[in-house]
Amino acid sequence: MDLKSKIDLKKLPKHIAVIMDGNGRWAKQKGKIRIFGHQNGVKAVREVTEAAAELGVNYLTLYAFSTENWGRPAEEVNALMTLLVGTIRKEIKTLMKNKIRLQAIGNLKELPPKAYKELLEGIEKTKDNDRMTLVLALNYSARWEITEAVKQIATAAKSGVVDPENITANTISQALTTNGIPDPELMIRTSGETRISNFLLWQIAYAELYFTPVLWPDFRKDNLYEAIISFQNRERRFGKTSDQLVKG
Ligand code: IPE
Ligand code: IPE
Ligand code: MG
Repeated sequence: MDLKSKIDLKKLPKHIAVIMDGNGRWAKQKGKIRIFGHQNGVKAVREVTEAAAELGVNYLTLYAFSTENWGRPAEEVNALMTLLVGTIRKEIKTLMKNKIRLQAIGNLKELPPKAYKELLEGIEKTKDNDRMTLVLALNYSARWEITEAVKQIATAAKSGVVDPENITANTISQALTTNGIPDPELMIRTSGETRISNFLLWQIAYAELYFTPVLWPDFRKDNLYEAIISFQNRERRFGKTSDQLVKG
């Protein structure tokens, strides 16, 4: 039986988040420069997006560039930004064909102007697509996002719009850049690293984490299927006991 047919389509995670890691190591293994790894990571992005949409996943969030990644050599940062612009431009047709809506989270205004412009165009062109939403996390860090949310709520409290007594977890969720997007139920990280690296800290409170040694440029549809099958074989207890869940 192939992997895809082992997936229970009625129990799909509505939102999958992916930390795409290992491009540099993939390139090094081949004796190439790191940028070669990033270029080859685009195929994996395409495959995973297509596979998720075909299955019926509603949201796919890809961690493409963290706030901390600015600390990499300028040459690599520039290559990543150029790749971003080129990829969005090239992939718009496919996104339209597959009815995928593009969105982005992160400190987008601080992206290089060309990348920001291309991104906004892509978001605008695809805004009416309703099959799946592809969220790119760009210049994103969860601590930046939470800090911004705190500022926003504190300002509202100061001006009397919000009563601090009435602040709930929902108030915080709504002040995050992911407002309106359901929390990820499954988070995947490739390349064997088992850390979160400042990604969606608030939103993954109850996500199932899946780590695979596969390096991102090698990640294909079957790797996504494996992660979903693993997700479907877990018992999500949300603090309750196993017996309580069985009894419903
Ligand atoms: C992930 O691959 C891509 C980005 C962070 C942009 P890396 O570039 O981190 O690859 P490794 O971890 O060095 O192998
Ligand atoms: C996380 O990968 C960021 C992205 C995938 C965009 P990193 O490679 O930057 O993470 P660390 O530095 O190994 O934690
Ligand atoms: Mg890395």
